[in-house]
Amino acid sequence: MKPGQTRFRLLEALEEAKGGFISGQQLSRRLSVSRTCIWKHVRALRSQGYEVHSQSNRGYRLVSCPDAPTPLEVRKKLRCRLLGRELRYLGRVGSTQDEAFKLAQKGAPEGTVVLAEEQSGGRGRVGRSFFSPKGGLWFSFILRPPLQPQVCLPVSLMAGVAVSEAVRAVTGLPAVLKWPNDVLIGGKKVAGILAEIVAETDAVRFVVCGIGVNANISAGKFPAELRPIATSLRIESGREVSLLELLCRILERLDFHYQEFLSRGPKAVLDAWRACPNVLGGRVRVTAVDEVVEGTAQDIDSDGALLVRTEEGVKRVIVGDVALGDK
Ligand code: BTN
Repeated sequence: MKPGQTRFRLLEALEEAKGGFISGQQLSRRLSVSRTCIWKHVRALRSQGYEVHSQSNRGYRLVSCPDAPTPLEVRKKLRCRLLGRELRYLGRVGSTQDEAFKLAQKGAPEGTVVLAEEQSGGRGRVGRSFFSPKGGLWFSFILRPPLQPQVCLPVSLMAGVAVSEAVRAVTGLPAVLKWPNDVLIGGKKVAGILAEIVAETDAVRFVVCGIGVNANISAGKFPAELRPIATSLRIESGREVSLLELLCRILERLDFHYQEFLSRGPKAVLDAWRACPNVLGGRVRVTAVDEVVEGTAQDIDSDGALLVRTEEGVKRVIVGDVALGDK
């Protein structure tokens, strides 16, 4: 049995005792491991934030579990077919994108999630850096869609939909999607998404999609240049948000939309995107690769590109940064 499995079964046994003691001998019999092994796993649980009391002659008693998106807590809570069945939980890393890439190259299964408490080199779209201190939710996941390389845009739109649905469900805040996949509250960015693809000419090898949510970041923590344009769930709601609950909700919504995408195609994602509160119908100024497009955001097309109604007619944008005007 893998150490993770023994630890999970130990936690189950402690939880079943509902705050009461369970002896080392009972535990060792139930899990078919030595009492020394039980002791080592109890120590490991404590280092992950579980409060476990021990008393000679009585055994162990679980007092509390951490409210953190650790693999054991996620495994207890998550109801997904694919996303998050494999979860790597890291402290401080450069970027979870890079860690997930390495795992994907080595054949990690579809749905693997890599999560970090903080990133020292968080990456944003178009080569920008992404501010990701402790308190936020920073993770990347691996998909292996049996499809053509142009799935990248629908995958990143899908991630935006999942995040905005989860933010609304967990906090009740009015999250709005800004094309392609920023999530805004009150016009300020609360979450960003980066989808990167490795493909042969006509088939995807894998997609690594990274999600960053400014969850519990206080106003004073944002660097001065971000303060006018970024916010956090804590600032907007006035309370601490459970990263565990938020992660599980996002993964469950991703799991749902990804199954829909595989069975019904990109239209399922595009319909879900349109059904979320979004910037369509409002004035936008889009800085695209080789031009600036100003007009009204009219719709997204069947590839997920943004259609902007301008004075010269409708323009189609595949990559660009959107600045909002009035709706
Ligand atoms: C953007 O808004 O420009 C995209 C931001 C994507 C940030 C996430 S945080 C987790 C993952 N790791 C990274 O380095 N980037 C993504």
